[in-house]
Amino acid sequence: MNIIMSRLHIRNLRLDDLDNFHAYRSNPNVTKYQGFNVMDKTEALDFIKNQTEKSFGTPGEWVQYGIVEALNNKLIGDCAIKLEIDDPKIVQIGITINPAYQNKGFAKDALLGIMAWLFDEKKIHRICETVDVENLNSIKLLESVGFRREGHFVENIFFNGKYGSEFQYAMLKKEWEK
Ligand SMILES: CC(C)(COP(=O)(O)OP(=O)(O)OC[C@H]1O[C@@H](n2cnc3c(N)ncnc32)[C@H](O)[C@@H]1OP(=O)(O)O)[C@@H](O)C(=O)NCCC(=O)NCCS
Repeated sequence: MNIIMSRLHIRNLRLDDLDNFHAYRSNPNVTKYQGFNVMDKTEALDFIKNQTEKSFGTPGEWVQYGIVEALNNKLIGDCAIKLEIDDPKIVQIGITINPAYQNKGFAKDALLGIMAWLFDEKKIHRICETVDVENLNSIKLLESVGFRREGHFVENIFFNGKYGSEFQYAMLKKEWEK
C-alpha cells in the first residue's frame, strides 16, 4: 500500500518507525479499547518485523500500515486492515493515532484515504469496524465519515477482566459512491 495525501502518507511499517511506533503503543490510553496490550521496545520491534513480511491481499490476516505525517515523514499512527477469510471483498479496519497528534483531523484524513483506496481501487464491497461502546472518539470518527451503526453486541467480549459491549459499524461501496 502507498496512499499519498496532502498531510499524510500511508505505507507499510518499517524498522526505522520503531521509536515513533513504540512511543504510542506503550501508552495504556491508546490500547485501552484494543486487542493489543501495551508493548515494550522488544515487542514493538518484533511486531514491526512481523508486519514487514505481510502485504495486502491475504484473507484472514491483519496487516498494520503506518500513518506518516507528510511534513516530516514521522510515523504518527497506524491502521490495521483485514480481508475476511471467507469473503475477501469484505474488510475490517481499525485506526490508532499517537495522542500527541489526536484532535487534528489526521484520523479522519487517514480513514477517508483508506476508504477511497479500498472502495475505488481495490473494489471492496464493504468495510466494517467493531468498536467498544465506551470508545467515544472512535465512534465519533466513524460517524463523521458516514459509517452506519448496524449492530449492538451486549457483553459479547471478555476484555480487561470483564465482559464489554461493542457496536458494529459498516459502509458499503454503494453508500460511499453516494
Ligand atoms: C479513534 C482515534 C483514531 C480518533 O482520533 P482523533 O484524533 O480523535 O480523530 P480526528 O483526527 O479525526 O480528530 C477529530 C477532531 O479534530 C478536530 N480537528 C482539529 N483540526 C482539524 C483539521 N485540520 N481537520 C479536521 N479536523 C480537525 C476536528 O474538529 C475533530 O473534532 P470534532 O469531531 O469534535 O469536530 C483516536 O482516538 C485513537 O487513536 N484512539 C486509540 C486507538 C483506538 O481505540 N482505535 C479504535 C479501535 S481500533
